[in-house]
Amino acid sequence: CGIIGYVGYQEAQNLLLDSLHRLEYRGYDSAGIAVLEEGEITIRKKSGRVQELGHLISQQPLKGHLGIGHTRWATHGEVNDTNSHPHIGGDNEVCLVHNGVIENYTSLRKSLKEKGFEFITTTDSEVVAHLLAHEYRRAVSKGGEAGSQKSCLVAIQSTLLQLKGTYGIAVLFRDCPDVMYVARVGSPLVIGIGDHEHFVASDASPLAVHTEEVVYLSDNEIAVLTADDIQIIHRDSGIVDPKIEVLEQTAAESELGEFEHYMLKEIFEQPQSIENAMRGRFNEDEATAVFGGLNMSAKDIRKVDRIVLTACGTSWHAGLVGEYLLEEFARIPTEVEYASELRYRNPPMSENTMIFAITQSGETADTLAAMRECKRKGHPTLAICNVVGSTIAREADGGIYLHAGPEVGVASTKAFTSQVTVLTLLALYFGRMRHLSYPAGSRIIRHLKEMPRIIEETLKCHEMVKYVADKYAKNNNFLYLGRLYNFPVALEGALKLKEISYIHAEGYPAAEMKHGPLALVDEVTPSVFVVPKCGIYPKVISNLEEVKARKGPVIAIACKGDDKIAELADDVIFVPDVEEYLQPLVTSIPLQLLSYHIALHRGCNVDRPRNLAKSVTVE
Ligand code: G6P
Repeated sequence: CGIIGYVGYQEAQNLLLDSLHRLEYRGYDSAGIAVLEEGEITIRKKSGRVQELGHLISQQPLKGHLGIGHTRWATHGEVNDTNSHPHIGGDNEVCLVHNGVIENYTSLRKSLKEKGFEFITTTDSEVVAHLLAHEYRRAVSKGGEAGSQKSCLVAIQSTLLQLKGTYGIAVLFRDCPDVMYVARVGSPLVIGIGDHEHFVASDASPLAVHTEEVVYLSDNEIAVLTADDIQIIHRDSGIVDPKIEVLEQTAAESELGEFEHYMLKEIFEQPQSIENAMRGRFNEDEATAVFGGLNMSAKDIRKVDRIVLTACGTSWHAGLVGEYLLEEFARIPTEVEYASELRYRNPPMSENTMIFAITQSGETADTLAAMRECKRKGHPTLAICNVVGSTIAREADGGIYLHAGPEVGVASTKAFTSQVTVLTLLALYFGRMRHLSYPAGSRIIRHLKEMPRIIEETLKCHEMVKYVADKYAKNNNFLYLGRLYNFPVALEGALKLKEISYIHAEGYPAAEMKHGPLALVDEVTPSVFVVPKCGIYPKVISNLEEVKARKGPVIAIACKGDDKIAELADDVIFVPDVEEYLQPLVTSIPLQLLSYHIALHRGCNVDRPRNLAKSVTVE
């Protein structure tokens, strides 16, 4: 979900609405805003896209200079107007927007009902709103001044102590006209510092148009914001100095430009994003990579005897490529773990196991939890992350930024190739500390440096991909097959298709076909074979023949100049020939484009696929 809040001199309504458009990639089930003026909280909210909220507001505008807004990705309670945020607490005394999940909401709801609070939604968030109203009344009844910052703060503090789960909240009190209260545990919030104005948002993307200065709120902190003042209070340590940081992101980076969709824009940005991932990271004299932010001594890094890569979704697929790279070049046993599993598992880990959390957003709840669990057990825990200042980036012992620029499309594309690029650099780095020779290191650097140009070349497959998409868009099942470095690519290709076109697709190691998925092959189910030239090319061809023998249509992703494949496959998308370990960077691109064009054909919303969100900050 996305949160926005404003206090200052501008009319809040339009600013909130514009910000919600920028935040929409975080959730688009429904949207709403609330504005406080002259002792009255007024709300407009609507299920559906932010655009629909815009229509409603144009008919029923709101006036005021203090307000909060929300785009929802439903967790508790169905998608409808009532369940949309903001939520009202008590007798219109409090208003709140909430990200996260309140785990003990059932018992809180029961006890609040007994106290006479009426619930009109089925969300967990409404519980927080009523609890705030209850605690506010209590603070006032105990002698606190009505409408004072102190009473409101006491109400918030006592409310938060009763909550179990995760939250990022922005709150308005009807009686406290110029103040916005925000707080977090587990759900990110960023405060924007303006000139006689303050903003709050669940990520920096809507803030970049307004300010360059931000403060990242930490867990267990409450911020009290007025137009001219910011005060941060930590649950345990009391008042803390706001640490102002400069935003790297510019507003223009999040604009669509000439492209119809963010996903397409981001696919075409890959020559540049891959270049940015490598910038300043080569030490050619020593034929190795350099990282400024690992925060570990060479001696400690040399001690590492095992690496665990943990991530979710597309980042997990990048991790799988990372495993192959690290084991091949650095000879360090490497494991890739789903963060949602690792957080609750207890796998044996040697003392010198090093953890990398791989995450585009730096906010994925499961990845964060897995990282914290590993940290707790004393392992060096680093992040490979795109969003500067995100929670995972800040909590990790050190890390590597992707510098890919904002990724807005819900289906991750350029972040994947940047993650793979950074993992290749990491394999080179660890390799050169151990077994890899100088000439081998130099060769890797030379090949990596060519990648931006080669990706540019790869993107020329676009027309052919359109043709293939056109031909196969009506199919309801797809298989994606590859081996070695192209097995994770097959998984990622299948995920891309599922995510944005709602077509059932399975990724498999090509040779595993005969142990099950081959049963799915018939005259209509296409198999996408990722089969560039490699050491086991003939073996992959045999797997392909097995599909052909069962009359299955085959789409091949193959190297330019591979004449043999043209005879075997029904359709071929050619890509440049590169070293095997660099193939994922190249072969993933036609698959990104294929899912994009198939989704377009089927009339799907490419950038906002149903039921999904860009950044999943709940468990
Ligand atoms: C969501 C997104 C995916 C992404 C995954 C992990 O599911 O829709 O595109 O791969 O989260 O996100 P992260 O930000 O941790 O890489």
